[in-house]
Amino acid sequence: MKDLQFARHRRLRNSASMRSLVREIHLHKEDLIYPIFVVEGENIKNEVPSMPGVYHLSLDLLKEEMAEVSDLGIKSVIVFGVPKEKDEVGTQAYHEHGIVQQAISLIKENFPELVVIADTCLCQYTSHGHCGIVEEGNILNDPTLDLLARTAVSQARAGADVIAPSNMMDGFVAAIREGLDANGFEDVPIMSYAVKYSSAFYGPFRDAVHSSPQFGDRKTYQMDPANRQEAIREAESDVMEGADFLIVKPALAYLDIIRDVKNNFNIPVVAYNVSGEYSMIKAAALNGWINERETVMEKMIGMKRAGTDLIITYYAKDVARWLNEE
Ligand code: PBG
Repeated sequence: MKDLQFARHRRLRNSASMRSLVREIHLHKEDLIYPIFVVEGENIKNEVPSMPGVYHLSLDLLKEEMAEVSDLGIKSVIVFGVPKEKDEVGTQAYHEHGIVQQAISLIKENFPELVVIADTCLCQYTSHGHCGIVEEGNILNDPTLDLLARTAVSQARAGADVIAPSNMMDGFVAAIREGLDANGFEDVPIMSYAVKYSSAFYGPFRDAVHSSPQFGDRKTYQMDPANRQEAIREAESDVMEGADFLIVKPALAYLDIIRDVKNNFNIPVVAYNVSGEYSMIKAAALNGWINERETVMEKMIGMKRAGTDLIITYYAKDVARWLNEE
């Protein structure tokens, strides 16, 4: 044995303190963005069946929820509206008193320090469930842009700190930037869902907001999971059009894409740890098949190691709690 030459990697793993000294990646509460679903009505707190632990909240219960989020040390939330009324052109998305607009004002009035991100899309608000205007079965790109800009401006007017467009029409960042600037919101940043794949992992979210397309699918606007270079092209055009953050979505089957985006651009990268990714762990945990806390924390570190700066996750409250306990 004496002449054997080899490296002793275990020297740096010998104790918890040593391991923590050489740990490369750290997760902070500041990295977390918590998604919330707001609904019209009163005294509503309904659990989303396919996402145990995630709720539809009416505005009167929102304050309590935000107090909890803020006390845990989470700095940011992203707001999704579930409107009662839907129509062909998603009117409720850009209505001055739409559910999201009301929720944003309420949060900002009571928790001015929380960074409120508005998801800007039409699919929850359209009767056909597509993210744009539909004509003869086609999702029209350019006519949709006006509506997206209107939606973004109405959200900024309600007090949104960040606009996060998730519709994947071409030119949406440029159109929204122009709309915001023209209305005096040149200081409101855009967090673009730049790289959004057409993914089965959105299933539980579509249950949650009743936004499954009523015909066809989203493959003409969301990306093909088989493509990697296309992600760079998508991110490139969004950066050129004025994006301030780049979202990669989903996260866990796309860690290589997160790394590519991180290596190629110098603005903050955001991983969207989507509904299906949440529900899979949740289901296994509820069955006692995995250790929920350890699995979730490992996934969080995995996304950060891949290069993300921020993580949108339905687990944000749990993660914050666990970090507070460490
Ligand atoms: C809206 C939107 C979607 C998600 C966020 N914004 C769904 C979709 O494109 O169908 C998915 C979020 C999740 O699955 O957690 N366009």
